[in-house]
Amino acid sequence: MLRLLMLLLFLNYGSTDIYKSCKDINFCNELRNIEPVQFSPQFDEISEDNNVVTIPLVNKDKQELNLKLTILENYTVRVKVTEKNKTRYELKDVLFKEPDVLEVVVDKSNADLVTLSPKDGSLKVVITSGTSFKVEFYYEDILEIVFVGENLVFSQVDNAFGFVAEFSDIIQLYGLHHHAVKLELPVTKDSSGKVLSDPYRNRNSDNANYPANGLGPLYGTVPVVYGHSEKHTSGIFLHNAAEQWVDLWYNSTSGYVYFMAESGTLDLFILLGDTPKAVVRQFTGLTGVAHMPQLWTLGYHQCRWSYFTQEDAWNVVTSMSRNHFPLDAIWLDIDYTDEKKYFTWNPVNYSDPIQFQANISGTNKKLVAIIDPHIKVDENYPVYEGAKDKYFVRWSNGTDYVGNCWPGESSYIDFLNPEARNYYSNWYSYDKFVNSTSTLAGIWNDMNEPSVFDDSTEKSLPYDVLHYGEVQHRDVHNIYGLLHTMSTHKGLMDRDNGTIRPFILTRSTFAGSQRYAAMWTGDNTADWPYLQISYSECLLSNIVGLVFCGADVGGFFDEPTAELLQRWYQAAIWLPFFRGHASNTVGRREPYLFEKDVQNVIRNAMEVRYSHIPMWYTLFYEHTITGDPVVRPIFYEYPGITNQDYHILLGSSILARPVMDKGAKSVNVSFPGTKDIYWYRIDDDSYKIFSGDSSTIITVDINTSPYFYKGGSIIARKNEKRYSTTDMQSDPFDLYITLDSNGEAEGTLYVDDYTSFKYRDEKLYFYVRISYITETGGISIEKINGGEGDFVVNIKQIIVVKPSNLGTNKYVYEHLADGAALKSVDLCQRLKKNQKVNLVF
Ligand code: NOJ
Repeated sequence: MLRLLMLLLFLNYGSTDIYKSCKDINFCNELRNIEPVQFSPQFDEISEDNNVVTIPLVNKDKQELNLKLTILENYTVRVKVTEKNKTRYELKDVLFKEPDVLEVVVDKSNADLVTLSPKDGSLKVVITSGTSFKVEFYYEDILEIVFVGENLVFSQVDNAFGFVAEFSDIIQLYGLHHHAVKLELPVTKDSSGKVLSDPYRNRNSDNANYPANGLGPLYGTVPVVYGHSEKHTSGIFLHNAAEQWVDLWYNSTSGYVYFMAESGTLDLFILLGDTPKAVVRQFTGLTGVAHMPQLWTLGYHQCRWSYFTQEDAWNVVTSMSRNHFPLDAIWLDIDYTDEKKYFTWNPVNYSDPIQFQANISGTNKKLVAIIDPHIKVDENYPVYEGAKDKYFVRWSNGTDYVGNCWPGESSYIDFLNPEARNYYSNWYSYDKFVNSTSTLAGIWNDMNEPSVFDDSTEKSLPYDVLHYGEVQHRDVHNIYGLLHTMSTHKGLMDRDNGTIRPFILTRSTFAGSQRYAAMWTGDNTADWPYLQISYSECLLSNIVGLVFCGADVGGFFDEPTAELLQRWYQAAIWLPFFRGHASNTVGRREPYLFEKDVQNVIRNAMEVRYSHIPMWYTLFYEHTITGDPVVRPIFYEYPGITNQDYHILLGSSILARPVMDKGAKSVNVSFPGTKDIYWYRIDDDSYKIFSGDSSTIITVDINTSPYFYKGGSIIARKNEKRYSTTDMQSDPFDLYITLDSNGEAEGTLYVDDYTSFKYRDEKLYFYVRISYITETGGISIEKINGGEGDFVVNIKQIIVVKPSNLGTNKYVYEHLADGAALKSVDLCQRLKKNQKVNLVF
C-alpha cells in the first residue's frame, strides 16, 4: 500500500504537462490579444516631490494613471506606474537596500516633451506626448531603451498590466532566468508580430522532468532582460513577484519585450549600462551580492535521493576516499527524516546521527541535509503544533491551508510574517534540531516554489490563499522561495552566533536570492541536451546575480551512459556548484561504481576542479566586491560575440570548452578577443598558443576536455592531490604565468580563514595582485583593498610560459618553498611590512 502511494506521489511528481498555456490563463490571454487604449501624458499637471517626477496619464476610457520617474545612482532609473484610487501590493525583501536617489533637473521648455536628467547630465529621460507617448532612456546621448506608451495596458477587469520595452540598436536579448534555453533567448514572435510560441512564463514551478529548450515555467524567476550588441548593453528589471508572461521579438534594429503581469505593481528599473559588466553591476547594486562561501562548498558534493541509512551514506564517504576521489560533502535527501518531518531523524535508519556526523567530520567532510518548507500536519509534531493557526498560509476564512506534499497533508509556513520567519529560523538551532551538530554544515531548501501535489493549482499554492497582512498569494508567489532561504539563512546565522557563513542550496529563486543561497537547476534528465543547457542555465543565472549555480551531474532522471557521465563531470567542474545527484528511480552512480577507465576520467576531471579552487575562491571574493559573475558567457568579456553556448569563462582568464556532444571526435573552439590575445592550451600540458579572433578544431578522445589560460594571466593553483578542500587549506600555491604579446601578466589571489565573516567585519583577508616583472623575470606582489589577514601563503612552484618563434617556452621554478630560489615565503608577514614584495628567482 505504502509502495503504491509512493508510486502515485512519484508519478504526480514527475509529470510536466499540467502547466497551462497562455490562452488558458485569463490575464495572459487578455493582455496578449488586447488593443490597448492609448494613454496620453498631461504635461500641464506634472509635479515633483523629493526628486520623484509624476506625470498623470489618461485615456479615452477615463483610466487615470500616474507615471513616476526617479533617477537613481549608478545609471539607473526607476519607473513606476500607479493607478489613481487604487493601491497595489508593493514588493518588499527583494532589493538589497533602497537605492540612492539623485537630484533631478526637469526641462519643460518644449511643449511636446519633458526631459529629466541628473545634474551631471550623464543620462537623460525624455517623455514625449501625443497619442502614442513614449519614454526614452539615454546613456549620455545614446538611446538605450524606450518604454513604449502605446502598449501600456492596465486591465479593467482584474489587476493585470502589460507594457513593452524596446531595446534600441541591439542584436541579442538575454536574461529571464529561469528557463532552460540557449543563451540567446529564443523569440516568441517574428518581426511581423506573428506568434511563434507561447510567451515565457515566469511563475516559480516544480516542473520536474522539464524539457530542455522550453519556455515553460521553472523553479525560479529573475524578471530581468538585457539588450546587447557590440556597441552597448542595457537592461530592465521588473520588481514584481506575481506571475508574468513575456513575449520577445526583434525587428531589424531593435529587440522588444512585452511583460504581462497578473498583479502587483508596475515597478521597473531601467539599467543603462552600457556594457554587460556595467549593467550586471547595476543590477547587483540593486539586489545585492552573495557573501563568501565557505571553502568546502566549492568542492565536490555527493548526493542521491536517498541514502536510506546512515551506514549507506557513511559507506559512500569512505568509498570515495578508498577510491581516491575527493569529496567535500555528503547529502541527505528527504528519507533521513522521521516521516518527512523536517528537523527530525529517522529513528531506525539514522539512529545515531551524532556518531554519524562525528565520523564524517573525522574525514574532514561535511553533511548537508534537506529541509523543505511544507510542514506535516501532525498534532504530535512540534514544528506543526507551534505554527498551527498562527504561522501558516491560510484561507480567507482564517483556517490553515492544507495541501499535499512528501509527508502527505501539509501546511506551508507563511514567510511574509516576520514572526513566522523567526519561528522557522529557530528550528535550526542545535537544541531544537535535536542531534544536529556543526558537521551539518549546510541546508538544502527544496520544493520551495512552493510545491503542492495538486495539478488543479498547477502544483503550487492557490493564488487566493492569504499571507500576513492579508496579502494574496498571487502577489508574492515568486518570492516564496527567496523568503524561505532568508529564514533559513537567519536560522544558520543564529545557530552559529554569526560566526560561520551559512551554506544553503535552494531550488526556487528570485532576484536577490544570491544574498542567501546557492541554487541548482532542478530535476534535469540524463541526456545530452540537458548537459548542454546546464551551461546556459548557469551562465544566465550568473549574469542576473545568482552566481553559485550548478546542475545535477549525470542528470536527475534516467540513466546516463558512461560516456555522458564522463562528459558531464568534465563539464560540471567549470560550474560554480558541483554536485552529483540522482533520483530514487535510477541506479546508483557514485563515481567509484564504474569501470576503472571511467573512474579515471571522472577523477581527473575532479582533480582539475580541485587544483583551481584558489581561483574559484578568489572569483567569489571579487563577486562580493563588484557583483561580477563568477562564470561568464563570452559576450560578457567580449561584447558582440554571441552564439557561444558551449564555451565558458571562469573569471576572465580561463576559457573552457568541454565536450558536450555524444560520440564527439573533435570540438570546435572559438577564441575570443583580437588577434594579439593569446590563449594557452593547458589540459594537454602543451601550452600551445591560439590567437584571439580565431577558431580551431581540436581532436578529442574521452580523456580530453580542453581549457585554456589567457595570455597575460597569473593563475594560482594548488596541485597536491587531496581528499577534500579542507585537506588542501595549508598547501602551497603553484603560480601559472602565461605571458601576453608584450611579455606581461598579472592576476589576483584571495585567501582568508575560509569560514567566518571576519573577512567582511574585520578585514581579515589577504588579497593581492601578482604581476610578472618583465625585466627581471620575477614577480611582484601587492596588496589590494588593504586586508589585514595574517595567513601563511607559500608558493611552491612558478611556471612561466612565454610565446616564442617555435610556439612557447616554458620555465618551471620548482620547490620554491623548500629553499631553492626562494625561502618559504611568508608573504603576509612581508606584505604587512612592505606593502609590495618583489621576488626574483
Ligand atoms: C525534488 C528535487 O528537485 C530533487 O533533487 C530531490 O531529490 C527530490 N525533490 C526529493 O527530495
